[in-house]
Amino acid sequence: MDMQAIASKNGNFNLKDYEGTRETFRWEDVNKHFTWNDTGKVNMAYEALDRHAEDSKTKDKIALIYSAPEREAKKTFSELSKESNKFANVLKKYGIEKGDRVFLFMPRSPEFYAAFFGILKIGAVAGPLFEAFMEQAVRDRLQDSEAKVLITTKELIARVPQEELPHLEKVIIVGEVPDDQGNYIDYKEEVDGASDQFDMVWVDLEDGMLLHYTSGSTGKPKGVYHVHNAMIQHYATGEWVLDLKEDDVYWCTADPGWVTGTSYGIFAPWLHGVTNVIRGGRFTPDDWYHTLEKYQVSVWYTAPTALRMLVSHGEEKLRSYDLTALRHLMSVGEPLNPEVITWGLAAFNLRIHDTWWMTETGAQLIVNLPALEIRPGSMGKPIPGIEAAIVDNEGNELPPNQMGNLAIKEGWPAMMRQIWNNPSKYESYFINGWYVSGDSAYRDEDGYFWFQGRLDDVINTSGERVGPFEVESKLIEHPAVAEAGVIGKPHPERGEIIKAFITLNDKYTETPELLEEIRVFVKTGLSAHAAPREIEVKDSIPKTRSGKIMRRLLKSWELGLPTGDTSTLEE
Ligand code: PRX
Repeated sequence: MDMQAIASKNGNFNLKDYEGTRETFRWEDVNKHFTWNDTGKVNMAYEALDRHAEDSKTKDKIALIYSAPEREAKKTFSELSKESNKFANVLKKYGIEKGDRVFLFMPRSPEFYAAFFGILKIGAVAGPLFEAFMEQAVRDRLQDSEAKVLITTKELIARVPQEELPHLEKVIIVGEVPDDQGNYIDYKEEVDGASDQFDMVWVDLEDGMLLHYTSGSTGKPKGVYHVHNAMIQHYATGEWVLDLKEDDVYWCTADPGWVTGTSYGIFAPWLHGVTNVIRGGRFTPDDWYHTLEKYQVSVWYTAPTALRMLVSHGEEKLRSYDLTALRHLMSVGEPLNPEVITWGLAAFNLRIHDTWWMTETGAQLIVNLPALEIRPGSMGKPIPGIEAAIVDNEGNELPPNQMGNLAIKEGWPAMMRQIWNNPSKYESYFINGWYVSGDSAYRDEDGYFWFQGRLDDVINTSGERVGPFEVESKLIEHPAVAEAGVIGKPHPERGEIIKAFITLNDKYTETPELLEEIRVFVKTGLSAHAAPREIEVKDSIPKTRSGKIMRRLLKSWELGLPTGDTSTLEE
């Protein structure tokens, strides 16, 4: 669609002189905001939390507003700092040290955030897991990371196969402790008994902070490892892109099990000391409008799937809420449809700013800055300090308007530093000095980037990244399934849905009940968002002569597209 560009915002917005800033900007310039200038050492938990708790102007400011259907809570910077100190003392008591992996598998709650900062304060590496994960997803991540401690709840502990996790030394339960003879530690009891003073473990910028597991097109999920140094970019983008000001009330809708929920649900807002709304529970338009209204949210970061759902519920609904506090909107995770931007202008009288980045990149890279005009359908331009290009498969830059691999010159502050336990996988991201994203895109003559799709088979369903291999592996564990091939199928609201093609074992015949059983099998074994919404039974699944499933061919069949080169197809 060819739409008119939307003029830039005036007023307080940052980076009016985009080109000029790009030329003179150095990442080192951001350093002056941080304590390590004096000490040489650092800790994200200090910069994002304790610094504000020590400052008489901010210590009693509300840091966190937690809102869920059954519970509401507010914590000041001082309260959150003390509770995280207590939790750091609990970890210390149980022998946790710098570099150990401590995982969180629980819904969003004030305890989650206190525990998260406690983990950072002791210098350990936090691994947040999405609460919808089922046993296999949990097992894969805890085994690969060799996590020593898991913080979870009574409701979720059944999905943790403790006997298969030899490295897991302690399980800490938040809320009611199950009476199943397990060797559990009661979060509340321990925290209540711990001192609220803790000597922060100061670390180096390159020390580990966070492990986020994410999916590729092959193999199990991989552990993307981030270090404290990422704060430089979280801070800078908090200013330039989130446009955070002291009095803002900020809400990022993402769960901390995904990278948006940590980089922009924890780090960026709290590095800037703003009040952060954390909303638990499920999505409904009324619920979200209500949250925006009740807390007078001024800056909102959400996802295209959510926005498309709001669009489908109409402007009428929105009009019954007072959303006048809202002044800045952003989106991430999937392509943002131009229609949604148009709707946003009419409904909120605000521009929606698309932002592009990935789990691996740790922070925003290509964005629609407040000070730039928006070209609907474009992800925007690289932030200062970031060089982006379209490259061919050898890492050579391509001219404007030519499609290719979206790539970033390696070495930005928030870039992942490892794929956990998998150095060769890490290496495989880089060609000729470029980090190659796996997305295809082009750049226009004016430097705007336009997303075109994934170059691999990774599926993006409602903004969540799903690896087809994981789903296929789970499917063939079902006794009825012989082979499986899984693709993303375009869907108007969810971006893509997961479609599985399967062949059945001899004894089985296709019935709606069987297909539903198979779907539920994936849902309860892996996770709800990875369960195929459509399953189609085939006589055979196309494979290469070396036995690789030809997902591309399945997709072409599904979409009625030309099948292209099938010379490697088995017979
Ligand atoms: O394909 C791109 C898509 O999401 C992928 C990254 O997914 P994940 O690591 O889960 O991180 C999501 C949030 C940081 C990318 O390779 N993606 C992300 N943002 C956009 C996008 N696609 C189009 N437009 C975006 N703004």
